[in-house]
Amino acid sequence: MIHLDGFVIKGGRRLKGVVRVSGSKNAALPCLFAALLTDDEVVLENVPDLQDIRTAVKLLEKLGKRVEWAGGRVVIRKRGALKAQAPYDLVRRMRASVVVMGPLLARLGRADVSLPGGCAIGARPVNFHLKAFEALGAEVSVKEGYISARGRLVGRRVRLPFPSVGATENVLMAAALARGRTVIENAAREPEIGDLADMLLSMGARIDGVGTARLTVTGVPRLGGCRHRVIPDRIEAGTFLVAAALTKGRVTLTHVEPAHLDAVLKALQRAGLRITRGADRLTAEWVKPLAPVSIRTRVYPGFPTDMQAQWMALMALTRGRSVIEEDIFENRFLHAQELTRMSARIDVRGPRALIDGVPALSGCPLMVSDLRAGAALVLAGLAARGTTKVLRVYHLDRGYERLEKKLRALGANVRRVPQ
Ligand code: UD1
Repeated sequence: MIHLDGFVIKGGRRLKGVVRVSGSKNAALPCLFAALLTDDEVVLENVPDLQDIRTAVKLLEKLGKRVEWAGGRVVIRKRGALKAQAPYDLVRRMRASVVVMGPLLARLGRADVSLPGGCAIGARPVNFHLKAFEALGAEVSVKEGYISARGRLVGRRVRLPFPSVGATENVLMAAALARGRTVIENAAREPEIGDLADMLLSMGARIDGVGTARLTVTGVPRLGGCRHRVIPDRIEAGTFLVAAALTKGRVTLTHVEPAHLDAVLKALQRAGLRITRGADRLTAEWVKPLAPVSIRTRVYPGFPTDMQAQWMALMALTRGRSVIEEDIFENRFLHAQELTRMSARIDVRGPRALIDGVPALSGCPLMVSDLRAGAALVLAGLAARGTTKVLRVYHLDRGYERLEKKLRALGANVRRVPQ
């Protein structure tokens, strides 16, 4: 059930204090689905309590797993026979569900997965996933809204046309149990892929080249259980750093992996924010008015597309002109219109947005279109004059654990209200 809560934000407070960064949503999801590769017990730690994770747990249950989830720890065991069908009512809620396809195909020689839904940020097809399964010997067809794949997988060379995160995860899991050796070329190098690979390795998979664009997977007949700790959420972390910058505050993050945030930290430092790094801590402190910094979203280790909207909110209040280029998704500027309604000056031209920073934004009712756009609007509301009502925060609940509580602990004036 989608609830229609909103946030009411009274802007203008400097955020100060310490935030514990949650486990990564985008790493936890494929790790949960990796449990489908074994009948043994899988224990995942540092799993964030989010709507998308609930959807993934429901999907695992539907596919024949028993799942216990308490306090960030998820235990997944076999319940009955593994099922091959991932139904529409779960897959449509979350696009990442398509990543069950690799494990199911590898285990059962068949998978029927509803065509995915998810955020409204572009066409987001799954053709790379399907082509890769075909390269591994599966027969793939699409009928009545379902993708159906059949066949025993055989290791091959698979070159992805683009280093897609989801396609890399899908092929990696499929190849782990395929017969023979698979080489994935042009693989995504995002930290979430590394996390999944680490988990697969501890289940007994044979993978070389982790962290590079060329992954070599030697299939094994079976994988065993494991205990795995999910990496910190670099996007949640980045969002709080931008919150510190926007509110002229001082925020310390704990349980973070600074190396995963290199591109974002560089951009923040170039803008003039003071950043102090520790082994698993980061402090961002506003010490002087920020300078505009243009960014272009890129695959990792470039500036993440999942931080582009938050960056736009920051630049909207940074004196001078900056340019944001969105290289990954074709329709990811939905937040620009809403920011403009707060009197930001943003001119979107195709994949490029020109931003002329204004001295102040004014609070008004705003509508969230997708997860990260929602984050940008909340950030803008924290820095705006007056009251901002952000509607449809269910998008935010998909990806930010206890967002308003964490913000309140830093001194923000945010309340959740029924819409
Ligand atoms: C993942 C992340 C998402 C992030 C994105 C890019 C999860 C759950 N989500 O999404 O938060 O924004 O990586 O870092 O981890 N594409 C195709 N055909 C395909 C697959 C992808 O054309 O078969 C295109 C997409 O439309 C998009 C680009 O490739 O333009 C990148 O997509 P991809 O890396 O696959 O992103 P996701 O795995 O969906």
